[in-house]
Amino acid sequence: MTGRQKVTVVGAGNVGATAAQEIARRDYANVVLVDIKENLPQGKALDLNEAAPVLGYEPNIVGSNGYDETADSDVVVITAGLPRKPGMSRDDLVTTNESIVGSVTREAVERSPEAVLIVVSNPLDAMCHVAKDVSGFPKERVFGMAGILDTARFSTFIAWETGASAKDVTAMVLGGHGDQMVPVVSATTVGGIPLTKLVSADRIEEMVERTRKGGGEIVNLLDTSAWYAPGAAVAQMADSVCLDQKRVLPCTAYLEGEYGIEGLYMGVPVKIGAGGIEEIVELELSEDERNELDKSADAVREVVGVLAGSS
Ligand code: LAC
Repeated sequence: MTGRQKVTVVGAGNVGATAAQEIARRDYANVVLVDIKENLPQGKALDLNEAAPVLGYEPNIVGSNGYDETADSDVVVITAGLPRKPGMSRDDLVTTNESIVGSVTREAVERSPEAVLIVVSNPLDAMCHVAKDVSGFPKERVFGMAGILDTARFSTFIAWETGASAKDVTAMVLGGHGDQMVPVVSATTVGGIPLTKLVSADRIEEMVERTRKGGGEIVNLLDTSAWYAPGAAVAQMADSVCLDQKRVLPCTAYLEGEYGIEGLYMGVPVKIGAGGIEEIVELELSEDERNELDKSADAVREVVGVLAGSS
């Protein structure tokens, strides 16, 4: 293949536009930004193009209300849907966003049958099921962004608590992208030292709780969902696909027996390369963590059961 790759971002709201900018800044892909709202994707694309001379990136960013420009994308990021409002859980969005994500997926995959789909819309785990069902793509090419974001939140709190650089925090948050998510404390280290040796159990529990409610904390402050950290997390996943990096990242992947979970999208560490998910990495979990993962799976199953398309 010659030239830049192509990444489509559907939804030109805060998360989509931030993801588009982060990806464009990497220089490896042209970006198509799609939204049904008239002028919105065109306006944001123009602004992003005009930032290029200052920030020094070269890809072209196109805004469109349709999908023709998205043809032959290597990656399609789906951020379309309503964001959360204060008082709403991610799961409250299920019915509305099911129909939006369904129609977006249909339009996108018709023109990019070989693309890797990265789902961002909430409720994330359930929307991954929608995208997989509607696209008919293999599970390796349909997965969701949540774990990198949840892990980034946990890592931020750990860095603050320990006074260490966030770069030296190694953490992993698994499970569904809801209040039952599972920060894997047993695998969390700071500069190689287990977190449990550095911070009291009580403080760790507080950080775990703050991580679980991390999305809601921002919704309460801003009246809408977060976008800087989500947009950056999407770009990290796109990097691993487009540059065939083989990063191991926590993503929402379709499990068929891994972690003892069958036929469900859940956040787990996966190796991502050019074709999407190349491997699901099975961490050794403590008994408590395994139980928590099971509980998180139950919570995801409940939301998936609400989908109109579920049978
Ligand atoms: C959050 C939303 C994007 O966690 O789910 O901020």
